Amino acid sequence: MNMRFDPSGPLRGRVAVPADKSISHRAAIVAAMASEPARVRNYLDAADTRSTIAAVQRLGAIVERRDHELVIRGCGLRNAMAPGEPIDVGNAGTLMRLLPGWLAFQQGASFELDGDDSIRRRPVDRIAEPLSLMGARIDARDGRFPPFTVHGAALTGIVYELPVASAQVKSCVLLAGLATSATTVAEPVPSRDHTERMLAAAGAPISRSGDPVGGYRTTVGNTDELGLGHVDVPGDPSSAAFLIAAGVLVRDSRLVLERVGVNWTRAGFLRILERMGAIVLADLEEPGAFVAEEPVADIDVRNAPIEATTVEAEEVPLAIDELPLVALLGCFAEGDTVVRGAGELRVKESDRIATVVEGLRGLGAEIEALPDGFVVTGTGRLRGGRLDSHGDHRLALLGAVAGMASEEGVEVVGMEAAEVSYPGFARDVAELIA
Ligand code: S3P
Repeated sequence: MNMRFDPSGPLRGRVAVPADKSISHRAAIVAAMASEPARVRNYLDAADTRSTIAAVQRLGAIVERRDHELVIRGCGLRNAMAPGEPIDVGNAGTLMRLLPGWLAFQQGASFELDGDDSIRRRPVDRIAEPLSLMGARIDARDGRFPPFTVHGAALTGIVYELPVASAQVKSCVLLAGLATSATTVAEPVPSRDHTERMLAAAGAPISRSGDPVGGYRTTVGNTDELGLGHVDVPGDPSSAAFLIAAGVLVRDSRLVLERVGVNWTRAGFLRILERMGAIVLADLEEPGAFVAEEPVADIDVRNAPIEATTVEAEEVPLAIDELPLVALLGCFAEGDTVVRGAGELRVKESDRIATVVEGLRGLGAEIEALPDGFVVTGTGRLRGGRLDSHGDHRLALLGAVAGMASEEGVEVVGMEAAEVSYPGFARDVAELIA
């Protein structure tokens, strides 16, 4: 489906963005592992998180929809039921990388996971390696791609130094660690910590040491039961980022995004915007905070001129999904905007270095790819044209915001990709322009 986004009039008003995708996935998975029923309010209703509900149902969890919440009756930690057929993760990389952490200790049972064409291009060796070190067996296509099978086993604890700062891999190892005497994951720089907070909320023995600069060592230990109770999912800061960027770029805009998650491990984009001189007000969480509750705040955005900035490797995991928007903002900023140390972008739903550079260049941007990032020379404008989403939701939404800020508008090819995280984007924008 193609969709045109014309140069936009001012965005004004208040809007509630969709629920957090990362936290929704985790809520469904941890609830499925729990022994007591969990109530999840504001679970994201989008394609990726529907895949997670379907997956946990296949494993034996019972999911009931009530007015504004899901009630999930879990299987218990060690009682996932092996379905006869493959579990379909759809387009959801987080589901594909987290779920095996639980499946790896379902002794004597085997689980095959598969997904769409994009998921079949995304590596799973990054989770197969630590899970194998713990004693599980993973058989993957060509040793590293889906479909793959997890053969559950009795696991032993490991100390695992993450080769890349990946919250998905960290989470997978921590989930598996619940069935070991002790497992520690060390990350070179901090990444989102929703799994750690949710495991703490569910009563798992979890502790961490370190700091926001040097990264953390997080340890979990053997657990008999999890009890998640009640989860209220905040608005997704990564979805909010598209409207924030539109508010910064579209002349005379002023908008408020309600109840957005402001966990500091997700707030990198807001800090980058602050350096660029954008007027974005929010009560952010202090870096280093670690509490079970996920903090939320309203985010107040106004249109204002912006300056270029440089994003270095240590900031990348805190803004990983927003880096395409940093490229777009760079087109309008004064000076050269540089992103480095972001090679991970190449293994997202598309190779986001290639697709962002090709996509924005096609709209008139002065942008060059680096092996691990990009450089954008700000010209203060963007012509417009056509942008192909390559089936990647963040590219589709990037094209939409680019169109709103451009001179001639943008036709987004493959806008349906946005369904996995932000199904109502065009409707929200129309309401804010009205
Ligand atoms: C996610 C972690 C990030 C992010 C993805 C969601 C998560 O991936 O890009 O959209 O929910 O843990 P990596 O941890 O692989 O960087």
